[in-house]
Amino acid sequence: MRIMITLLSYDHGILRQVLDVVSDMAAEGTLDQHRDIMPEVSRFFLDFMDRYHHGREEKFVFPAATDSPERIRAMIPELIDEHRTARSFALAIADNVADWDTGPLAENIRDLAAHMMHHIKEEEDFVFPGMEGALEGDRDLDIFEQSQAFIREEFGEDFPKRAEDFANRLQDKVWGEGVIKYPSTRG
Ligand SMILES: [Fe+2]
Ligand SMILES: [Fe+2]
Repeated sequence: MRIMITLLSYDHGILRQVLDVVSDMAAEGTLDQHRDIMPEVSRFFLDFMDRYHHGREEKFVFPAATDSPERIRAMIPELIDEHRTARSFALAIADNVADWDTGPLAENIRDLAAHMMHHIKEEEDFVFPGMEGALEGDRDLDIFEQSQAFIREEFGEDFPKRAEDFANRLQDKVWGEGVIKYPSTRG
């Protein structure tokens, strides 16, 4: 497994954890109860999902797909388009949180979760395995180093750790410490 693909798959785990907890809140009608943490949730989608995770895929990993099989190359524009859709949902969620409009908020959370579960599955089942060959040896290390520099400059070195801590804090707050639920979004 290539370093960059391993790191991006690890991001997916953090993203799914947050999506699972918030889509459970939307389904159970408990958003009001957890209103205080929702501004952080909406920032997480804009910063971690969009700028950090999708940013690294688009800047460093997808360009390497030029050396991947045609069926993988053909999927890249579609994946980038899906990132745009995810960002639209994240922006709508930020507005819904600012206005505290829980009906549309619950709907946008559900739609974002469904959209991202499908997108992540596509990347993990087809795109990442299909790109292994294009990320051989030095190339993987090269883009890893570029990606680490991007993280340091744009987010600060401790950003991934802070995102992971946030996902755990959110889960503990909503489900109780040490409780693991498996909602239907996990697929
Ligand atoms: Fe992606
Ligand atoms: Fe991804």
